[in-house]
Amino acid sequence: MSELLTIDSISVSYGNIKALRQVSIHVDEGDIVCLIGANGAGKSTLLKAIVGLEPIITGSIAFEGRPIAESHAQNGGGKFRFPKKRTHDTHTLRTDEIAGLGVALVPEGRRVFADMTVEENLDMGAFLVKDDAKIARKKEEMYDFFPILGARRKQKTRSLSGGEQQMMAIARALMSSPRLLLLDEPGLGLAPLIIQDIFEKISIINREEGVTVFLVEQNARMALKASKEGYVMENGSIVLCDLSANLLENERVKAAYLGE
Ligand SMILES: Nc1ncnc2c1ncn2[C@@H]1O[C@H](COP(=O)(O)OP(=O)(O)OP(=O)(O)O)[C@@H](O)[C@H]1O
Ligand SMILES: [Mg+2]
Repeated sequence: MSELLTIDSISVSYGNIKALRQVSIHVDEGDIVCLIGANGAGKSTLLKAIVGLEPIITGSIAFEGRPIAESHAQNGGGKFRFPKKRTHDTHTLRTDEIAGLGVALVPEGRRVFADMTVEENLDMGAFLVKDDAKIARKKEEMYDFFPILGARRKQKTRSLSGGEQQMMAIARALMSSPRLLLLDEPGLGLAPLIIQDIFEKISIINREEGVTVFLVEQNARMALKASKEGYVMENGSIVLCDLSANLLENERVKAAYLGE
C-alpha cells in the first residue's frame, strides 16, 4: 500500500501558543485513519496545516511523496531561542493547488453557505472542475448517494437540519473527486443516530469509491470503530498511535476518551 499523506515532525504556532509540536502522521492510500483528542488539542490546526491554511514552522507535509509544505528551520527542531527572530523559511503550495492534487477538507462546523441552495453549494465544491457536463453528472451522483440532498436541491441550506448540512458539506467536498478526504469532527453537535448515518456514508465512500479518509473526532468511540489506524493528540503532540482495534482496548484511551 502506498503512502498518500506523510506528515513529518510539523509544528505550528499562533504567536506564543504552540498549537502543534513535532507531529508525525502517515496515511496509506485506501485507509481510514483517525485522530482523536480533546478540545484544543490541535486537531483542526493540523487539518488547516495540511491544506495550507496555517504555516508550519518545522517539518514537512507530502502528498504522494510530493512536498506540499516544507519548513527549513535554521536552528533545529523548532526550539527557537527566545527572543531571537525566527529564522525559518517555509515553502507551501497554495490551498487551491493542494485541492488540485486531490485533497478536500470538510471543515469543522460544516461552513456551509447558508443563503445558497444545496445545488449552489455543490457547485462551489466543483470550482476546480471546468467541464459542466461532469459537474452535472457529479451532482446527480451526490443526489443518488444522499437522497435527502436531491429532495432539497433547490432549498436554501439554512433550512436543512444539522445532519443534512453535514451530509451536504461532505457532498460538496466530494464534488472535486478527491483522493484524500479530510473530515473535521463530522459528528459535532449531532444526535447519535445521525452520527451513525454519517459514519456509514463515510465508510461507503472509502470502500466503494476508494477515497482515503483522514478523520478528526472528539467522538473517540465512533472514530476508532470506523478507522483502521488511530492517533491520539494531547496538547499539540501525538501521544499514541496504533491500530484502532488496539486503541479501543488501550487502558489510557479507555480512561481518557471512552469513559470506561
Ligand atoms: N487562530 C488562532 N489564534 C490563536 N490561537 C488559536 C487559533 N486557532 C487555534 N488556536 C489555539 O490553538 C490550540 C489548538 O486549537 P485547535 O482548534 O487546533 O484545537 P482542536 O483540537 O481542533 O479543538 P476542538 O476539538 O475544540 O475543535 C488551542 O489552544 C486554540 O486556542
Ligand atoms: Mg477543532
